[in-house]
Amino acid sequence: MALHALAMLAAAVLARADETGNKVPRAAPSGTAAWDAAHSSAAAAVAKMSQQDKINIVTGVGWNKGPCVGNTPAIGSVGYPELCLQDGPLGVRYGTGTTAFTPGIQAASTWDVELIRQRGEYLGAEAKGCGVHVLLGPVAGPLGKNPTGGRNWEGFGVDPYLAGIAMAETIEGMQSSGVQACAKHYIANEQELNRDTMSSNVDDRTMHELYLWPFADAVHANVASAMCSYNKLNGSWACESDRALNGLLKTELGFRGYVMSDWDAQHTTVGSANAGLDMTMPGSDYSGKTVLWGPQLNNAVNSNQVSKARLDDMAQRILAAWYLVGQNAGYPAINIKASVQGNHKENVRAIARDGIVLLKNDGGVLPLKKPAKLALVGSAAVANPNGINSCNDQGCDQGALGMGWGSGAVYYPYMVAPYDALKARAQSDGTTLTLHNSDSTSGVASAVSGADAAIVVITADSGEGYITVEGNAGDRQNLDPWHNGNALVQAVAAANPNTIVVVHSVGPVILETILATAGVKAVVWAGLPSQENGNALVDVLYGLTAPSGKLVYTIAKRAEDYGTAVVRGDDNYSEGLFVDYRHFDNAKIEPRFEFGFGLSYTNFTYSNLTTTTAPTLTAGPATGATIPGGPADLWDTVATVTATITNSGGVAGAEVAQLYLTLPSSAPAAPPRQLRGFAKLALQPGASGTATFNLRRRDLSYWDVGSQRWVVPAGTFGVVVGASSRDGRLEGSLVV
Ligand SMILES: *[C@@H]1O[C@H](CO)[C@@H](O)[C@H](O)[C@H]1NC(C)=O
Ligand SMILES: *[C@@H]1O[C@H](CO)[C@@H](O)[C@H](O)[C@H]1NC(C)=O
Ligand SMILES: *[C@@H]1O[C@H](CO)[C@@H](O)[C@H](O)[C@H]1NC(C)=O
Ligand SMILES: *[C@@H]1O[C@H](CO)[C@@H](O)[C@H](O)[C@H]1NC(C)=O
Repeated sequence: MALHALAMLAAAVLARADETGNKVPRAAPSGTAAWDAAHSSAAAAVAKMSQQDKINIVTGVGWNKGPCVGNTPAIGSVGYPELCLQDGPLGVRYGTGTTAFTPGIQAASTWDVELIRQRGEYLGAEAKGCGVHVLLGPVAGPLGKNPTGGRNWEGFGVDPYLAGIAMAETIEGMQSSGVQACAKHYIANEQELNRDTMSSNVDDRTMHELYLWPFADAVHANVASAMCSYNKLNGSWACESDRALNGLLKTELGFRGYVMSDWDAQHTTVGSANAGLDMTMPGSDYSGKTVLWGPQLNNAVNSNQVSKARLDDMAQRILAAWYLVGQNAGYPAINIKASVQGNHKENVRAIARDGIVLLKNDGGVLPLKKPAKLALVGSAAVANPNGINSCNDQGCDQGALGMGWGSGAVYYPYMVAPYDALKARAQSDGTTLTLHNSDSTSGVASAVSGADAAIVVITADSGEGYITVEGNAGDRQNLDPWHNGNALVQAVAAANPNTIVVVHSVGPVILETILATAGVKAVVWAGLPSQENGNALVDVLYGLTAPSGKLVYTIAKRAEDYGTAVVRGDDNYSEGLFVDYRHFDNAKIEPRFEFGFGLSYTNFTYSNLTTTTAPTLTAGPATGATIPGGPADLWDTVATVTATITNSGGVAGAEVAQLYLTLPSSAPAAPPRQLRGFAKLALQPGASGTATFNLRRRDLSYWDVGSQRWVVPAGTFGVVVGASSRDGRLEGSLVV
């Protein structure tokens, strides 16, 4: 049985590039057969288990009582091990022989499904090498509706389509390596402030079209587990929301794995069990005194407040996930300190590099061409002088920034800071490199004047709310650069007319002051590059690779322009569907740099739009049988759009061509355009390639609240293929 399940998963790992060589999201095979096999093995095991075994398998051993951040006891009667659950989304937390992978936000910024998939495979391989059974990621909640949201960087950007593709690629990659993935934090956990008391009151359509969407991709990718979040939904805790767990996740999306609580996010014994929670983590509160399941659940089952069938279902789901990924044979022993890095730093460097977004490049100041004198400025230009892992869970903004802080952070095995990599390059070029490794404006003019170019590295950081850094309790207090970055850039640019600003940031920063500063010739949005920070930067600054990342959120002119912000108290999500570019487009607000934007060192031209519809494309609801992810027909390709992309500039480069759809007027009010396809093409100068966008039924649907179905509206869909959400190059239509 388990071998069958494994074979199904192996079949999911197919070549990523299509015959024309471009990288496009690929339809995942249905997981129904693999889950059937895994559940049948699990049911056989459950039949052998005592009630106490079942209580044990669903109840964590308690906070700080096992080798991992979460643990359940071994169940000897069925050969089930002490289960190890470990943070997190970018590597093995507390690992000392592991890779610090790039954060999700950086992976998304590459729009490169092959790199995202490989990142998942490597994450899974390292977790398995450490004996970790469940690696706690990837993240689609927060989605990132609040630009200052502290944990947005752990996820894949604010568009649900892109986040969904990245979730699926990551999960399939992780699970193909043998580790269970965990889709988290479910759901509508969009800020750190009051996250464990506030209620997110999201209307049904917005829930489906924005927040649930990437979780549907996760379920479709056969994710083994999901983690319910700290917040309430309409006043009920997410971990005891019958509507969210039994309803949306297990019934509507057909999720066949198990739901674990976020750490200490469970509040009742019976309510959580009956709402669909399957595993409590860490099994106690942080004092270790309160245990809501364990003996309490046993009592609840004995008194029929929770049915025996519900307890069996919990245990069967947990076991099925374990069988699904083949952990029932030959799994390594737990050793969080194992050395498992292999060549994985290559993926870190590639994502750190290809996630860099070039925002401005006046007069071709970049790429650098063997400058005689170069200046480098900023505290973030060098590794943290106190030690690269000196801050608990990376909770500080000292030295080169590679990730945000919190439980989703890991130790760096090393840090190649901007200065380290630039110094090596300068030596080989014979360039004189001057360093001013502080954010103080004092003395900076003399450090940079006379240099051919001055590179200033500035930052903005955020993280999880249990750590406050420089007054930021998880969420950022504002969207300004940290450490007086604006003043530092002004001081540098006043003394050097070729100033290149490098931004390492968790999310959008208001750049108006910097862009208005004469002397600022280039802005390089370098995101969160983790351990390969400087190497990735040098690759792009020197044109070893043309920049090819595109923004996965909007950079506004003013913080108020987003129309969403961290709130005190409950959040009614009154902006509905109008988040990030959906809002800027709808409210006709000009952003500074729009979602999907990014420059290159070359130019791309777009031509020859074609659209083809399948006979299966009909107006009306998806009605297929439920498979993991929802109705089967929702996932069918019903239309294909192609466009020819030509590299019309002078150097090799890669373009992320994006497809945006406008729903017909028969649909209820919707955002003016929504991302529904992308393809990344690497092209030599003069070469052309075909971008192919396969539109699934869901990509053409809206959620109809009345009928509780996904519906394709009748009429004419607007199709725009272009270089960003506002740089449409080709227009067409689809008639349904
Ligand atoms: C929350 O309430 C809204 C408005 O009644 C409803 O549309 C939505 O489905 C509810 N969501 C949950 C998770 O209960
Ligand atoms: C959210 O909606 C509730 C119920 O309609 C209302 O009482 C409350 O004032 C609203 N909260 C905000 C912040 O608008
Ligand atoms: C336009 O694209 C289609 C589909 O890829 C292709 O068959 C056709 O040859 C292209 N035409 C031109 C003029 O490039
Ligand atoms: C790209 O095209 C623009 C406008 O046609 C031109 O000014 C610029 O030099 C081109 N850049 C490259 C790198 O070819």
